[in-house]
Amino acid sequence: MIDGKTKLVALIGNPVSHSLSPLIHNSAFNSLNINAVYLAFKVGREKLSTAVEFLKDVDAIGANVTVPYKEEVVKYVDLLTDEAKEIGAINTVLFTDRVEGHNTDGKGAIKALEEAGVKADSSFFIFGAGGAARAIATTLAMEGAEIFLSNRTEKRGKELVKKLCKYGKAKFVPLNSEYLYRYLPEVETIINATTVGMDGKCLVPENAISEKHVVMDIVYSPLKTELIKRAEKVGAKTITGDRMLLHQAALSFEIWFKRKAPVEIMETALKGVVH
Ligand code: ATR
Repeated sequence: MIDGKTKLVALIGNPVSHSLSPLIHNSAFNSLNINAVYLAFKVGREKLSTAVEFLKDVDAIGANVTVPYKEEVVKYVDLLTDEAKEIGAINTVLFTDRVEGHNTDGKGAIKALEEAGVKADSSFFIFGAGGAARAIATTLAMEGAEIFLSNRTEKRGKELVKKLCKYGKAKFVPLNSEYLYRYLPEVETIINATTVGMDGKCLVPENAISEKHVVMDIVYSPLKTELIKRAEKVGAKTITGDRMLLHQAALSFEIWFKRKAPVEIMETALKGVVH
């Protein structure tokens, strides 16, 4: 029941109407009888700082920040975790006496990998250099991963690889089949961290995946992307996009409420809507 003591947790982004976060978090609040409500707000770019100020002023517990503001919102927080600083973007805000910026995307991806038996300090081929790819690649690199990375826009990919080299071995690989056939067999795990897959397409050539690979896609709509289908066909282990979505949400919950997230409840809520 919403009453005079109900606290607010917000999502700010644009667009937000397709977001599954309200469903995941409200089911968690309900199951634990937490007197809070999670609401999504579509915010125009010019109102981003006002939105953060407002949430702080009305004593909101925290917020998630999504596309396209994960980087820009960094300007409006008082302190950043080391990880968020290194990634250069945040997806979670905690309001205390200050405004804290956190990033749970990378750790959420690592949890999804670990539950499938993949160690963070192993070898990865990552597609992408956008916000999601940066969070995943940076967090993995900080954990000692060896990373091969490919991106359509080479400049963006090479810049990310340069940053990753601070932590360990990282190499940029041009996005063409000749190079992909050469380097994909060298890694244990392939991660698609681009938006390709929402459109039925796939960046990984059909027979460049083997049964020895673990293949993870961050796209969750559809759940069975072309990449996941190709991986299943050759008998590779797969990790669908709902797993990272679930774990980044659980980690955000734990930052806001300083208690263990009801992961199974969140998972059930998610299973009802992603196919
Ligand atoms: P997000 O924050 O969700 O990661 P983004 O910053 O827009 O979103 O990044 C999208 C990623 O998908 C980028 O790596 C992008 O490649 P570019 O850096 O070249 O833009 C990649 N991407 C999107 N559409 C693509 C396509 N049709 N082919 C290849 N890569 C694509």
